[in-house]
Amino acid sequence: MKNLIDIKELSKSELTSLLDNALRNKKSKTTLQNHLNGKNLVLFFEKRSTRTRLSFDIAIKQLGGSTTILNKEDIHLGNDKESVSDTINTFGLYADGIVLRVNDHKTLMSASKISNLPVINALSNLSHPCQCLAGLMTLLEERGSLDKLNIVWMGPITNVTNSWIEAFKKELGFSFNIFCPEAWFEKYIEKMNKYHIPTDLDDIVHYRINDQILAQADAVMTDTWKSMGEDIKSQDYDLIKEFRVTEKVMKKAKLDSIFMHCLPANRNEEVEASVIDGNNSRVWQEASNRLYVQKEILKVIF
Ligand code: CP
Ligand code: NVA
Repeated sequence: MKNLIDIKELSKSELTSLLDNALRNKKSKTTLQNHLNGKNLVLFFEKRSTRTRLSFDIAIKQLGGSTTILNKEDIHLGNDKESVSDTINTFGLYADGIVLRVNDHKTLMSASKISNLPVINALSNLSHPCQCLAGLMTLLEERGSLDKLNIVWMGPITNVTNSWIEAFKKELGFSFNIFCPEAWFEKYIEKMNKYHIPTDLDDIVHYRINDQILAQADAVMTDTWKSMGEDIKSQDYDLIKEFRVTEKVMKKAKLDSIFMHCLPANRNEEVEASVIDGNNSRVWQEASNRLYVQKEILKVIF
């Protein structure tokens, strides 16, 4: 594997061994390894980041490498300044790998084509593979297997959801259902069409909360209603309120159903504070697993 742009590029066996290794490494409490000895990775963020930035920075250092972290305002990239191509080629003169968080997925695609260096997706407007891997690891850690697990996604279909859809399509044994307002789903389809990405989600998208599916849920997940760089009209807020993850929703799921969220979260918007801060929430475990997953991604690539 040269790059990690999307989950769909991983084979089922690559995916499962990456998750198994991440879990094994976490249990072994082995912190320092030398896979990246002498290597420097450039981490470039066009959008904000707390967890991804920290977990990559620390993961790279724990593997013996070093990092150079750049934000949008630090470099020349942008209209009338410097092109993606010249920027990526410049990174290639000095660094050994590139971790990118971008506004437009096309930037990642171009970077991976232009660069001889490995390129890792640290979130784009279309996907967030590293987040999904940490979520999968959390489920595996909690339940011992992904087989026969039922996952319910509530609310907006975001970059994080897209990565979960790709993981679902790998047939790892879990079911995945999305409860989302019809109008939001239509907007999502419009967005995917702009990128010529085919969608065949009719079997898994439901425009209302489906109590029968919810009753089987081992995990309920959501994401912020407004992703970075997106706008929401007030009428769209009204439509999505019904899909907030509340205590009432969680009571309809399996008794031991867990709540997951990529973070950052807006308490009492997409999730009730008592749910995200409650006993069945695994959001901090999921966030901490980012580190282990990042390390395994780096080990596979380098
Ligand atoms: N979940 C996640 O990617 O968080 P950050 O935006 O803080 O990196
Ligand atoms: N969907 C969110 C995820 C943040 C980690 C966003 O893109 O802002």
